Amino acid sequence: MNAPVSYDPHADAWTTPLDQLDPGNPARFQDDTMWPTFARLRRDAPVHYSTTSPMFGPYWSVTKYKDIMAVEVNHKAFSSDSGFGGISIRDRPKELQLPMFIAMDPPRHDDQRKVVQPIVAPANLAKLEGIIRDRVCTILDGLPRNETFNWVEHVSIELTVTMLATLFDFPYEDRRKLSFWSDCATAAPEAGGYIDSEAKREEVFAECLAYFTDLWNQRVNADPRPDLISMLAHGEATRNMTPREYLGNLILLIVGGNDTTRNSISGGVLFLDRNPGEYAKLRANPGLIETMVPEIIRYQTPLAHMRRTAVQDVELGGQRIKAGDKVVMWYISGNRDPEAIEEPERFIIDRKRPRQHLSFGFGIHRCVGNRLAELQLKILWEEILKRFDRIEVVGEPKRVFSSFVHGITDLPVRIPG
Ligand code: HEM
Repeated sequence: MNAPVSYDPHADAWTTPLDQLDPGNPARFQDDTMWPTFARLRRDAPVHYSTTSPMFGPYWSVTKYKDIMAVEVNHKAFSSDSGFGGISIRDRPKELQLPMFIAMDPPRHDDQRKVVQPIVAPANLAKLEGIIRDRVCTILDGLPRNETFNWVEHVSIELTVTMLATLFDFPYEDRRKLSFWSDCATAAPEAGGYIDSEAKREEVFAECLAYFTDLWNQRVNADPRPDLISMLAHGEATRNMTPREYLGNLILLIVGGNDTTRNSISGGVLFLDRNPGEYAKLRANPGLIETMVPEIIRYQTPLAHMRRTAVQDVELGGQRIKAGDKVVMWYISGNRDPEAIEEPERFIIDRKRPRQHLSFGFGIHRCVGNRLAELQLKILWEEILKRFDRIEVVGEPKRVFSSFVHGITDLPVRIPG
């Protein structure tokens, strides 16, 4: 691992002085060593102010379940508006920010959210179920046996882009463009990948906008249809968006529907492999898929945090947060808070209240696609259990250099058969 931020991979989170902890350090997420930092903060400084981050500047970390909920429900004091800084720990210069409804406050947020909400209406989900199942079957039936392959590439990415292409009614043969744009939108230039500068990211965004502008022009001149582009093109609150606002909302929907579900699909395979007792329980009773799916989403926490900016002075967990301060809600930590969740460190597929987690957020920005994500995972596991006795993880997973997207890039697996 070659982390370009100053970082001692062996620093002990339990003895490092509290004022030197930088819980957002992406290198710790890449090598999966962030857990003790959050356990320490929950115990010693649940609302913690960090001033040592070379990447993110000063920020508050909220690490306990109940404090995260308090921020989520108080959207008047804690803004998501990109004008104040937006929704992730990384500040972006004003000229590079993309307007999108997740980074807006009411009333604009509410009006635009309403335009796309029907995509997950129960009747539409019922219609999507058959399409998802067909595509899952095709993907699973094409997998090699007795051979090592990358589950992320062959299944997690393929299934999520297929789904997104369906939601957008996007040309199927070009569906991999969606995962490319999504990865470019969330890549950290410091990680040294394809996106090595903001200028490069803007180039990719321009390509994405040009492609989607053609689709908008086709849909706007046709009757409204239940796909996301048609909904945006005809929606009262979105039909007069600027091109940049259209791009922003597309990126929101692409990233929202892509990285998150992808990493839950990969996480599920990893967690079952590491917990053979739970895997045996599942094989004996496939009905447990219902409670396992939300447990996978809790345990993975595909978005490690969301950020807000205080717009007034607020007291939280005994700390005085000042107007203008950056406040990071660490879902990944709240989901491991023993005061809210019993035995949170364990992966248990038959929990009594499996949906009691923070992975979808809460309040007015709670994930639009939560039921759709659960549906995809449910169908995937139903079809996996029909076909394969086990999926063996045969090497260490490689993880994303990010403290926002909590993800896996490589998961070597083998399916005996
Ligand atoms: C918002 C997580 C799947 C679309 C969010 C938020 C989180 C999240 C944490 C912000 C909540 C907050 O600020 O309180 C997830 C996870 C998923 C998932 C963990 C999968 C396991 C999806 C899918 C879609 C989607 C499949 C649809 C294409 C959105 C949108 C928002 C959102 C549009 C913005 C909502 C708003 O601002 O009102 N999601 N998401 N997500 N998600 Fe998801």
